[in-house]
Amino acid sequence: MQPRVLVTKRVYPEAIEFLTQHAEVDYVSDDDGLSPAELLERARGKNAIVSQLVDKFTRDVIAQLDSSVRIIANVAVGFDNIDVAAASERGILVTNTPDVLTDTTADFAFALLMAAARRVVEAHEFAHSRKWGRWTIDMLVGQDVHHRTLGILGMGRIGQAMARRGTGFAMQVLYHDAVQLPCDAEYSSKERVLQESDFVSLHVPLSEATRHYIGEAELRMMKPSAILINTSRGPVVDEATLVRALREKWIGGAGLDVFENEPRVNPGLLECANVVLAPHIGSASVDTRRGMSMIAVENAVEAIEGRRPKTLLNPGVWDSIASRRGA
Ligand code: DGY
Repeated sequence: MQPRVLVTKRVYPEAIEFLTQHAEVDYVSDDDGLSPAELLERARGKNAIVSQLVDKFTRDVIAQLDSSVRIIANVAVGFDNIDVAAASERGILVTNTPDVLTDTTADFAFALLMAAARRVVEAHEFAHSRKWGRWTIDMLVGQDVHHRTLGILGMGRIGQAMARRGTGFAMQVLYHDAVQLPCDAEYSSKERVLQESDFVSLHVPLSEATRHYIGEAELRMMKPSAILINTSRGPVVDEATLVRALREKWIGGAGLDVFENEPRVNPGLLECANVVLAPHIGSASVDTRRGMSMIAVENAVEAIEGRRPKTLLNPGVWDSIASRRGA
């Protein structure tokens, strides 16, 4: 019998073509997403699930997954939608899509930084409004980016790619992470990054430890002119407090691609002029989204054909599968 794969939401067509060469594919080809009950129902009898960040694999959902499921292959680098510990306990492999999206996401974080600093969106709206009557010396003046200080919180792959962009703009780059890295950026405490940076860019993964990593204390540490950039996950920032910080001018502005309750954007943010907003498109280039789709389906095929998937998040599960096979 052919292995069976569930694809929970639309992906690039090449990915489905590849999958159908290796498995029987149950493809949810629309963008609505499955409820937890629908997900469990459709997962019945499947050997692999190709999932996206809106699919919530909580401990409870994972406990009810059919024992036929060998892998959850997430089409994202972030995997906060999957309880990996619970999956590991059930012997289910979990994979993500790192590397392919590193530069694309850092490009977008830098685009938000530039847009917020130089008021690109306001300028665009103004030019469209037909209200532009004359040129004035201080029309839409913003902040310089070059030679300013960029602070990076979370120096993983995307944080490092962001640092390289900052260096290209002759910025001083400070960073904080749990580990110190051999790199050109200067390792600093979280407090120093917040206090001294003109731009603070968040690149920490979402976990219980990083939920509301930026809250009132952190926002109050930042310079009144500083701009906060978030392309990681919304709940890393206490959004209600960020709205207060923007309204009351504790900080100068923000560039946000991610939100606490996506796809809902906090109405307070919509009212702030000093904010640039995007609908979670950090990795959204054609090549990258196609590449992410391909990596996820390749991981699914590796697992169902008995090989170790390349971007495995719980290698211990693979080791025990391999040792059982060897035994
Ligand atoms: C990721 O990969 O985690 C992004 O947030 C979605 O593309």
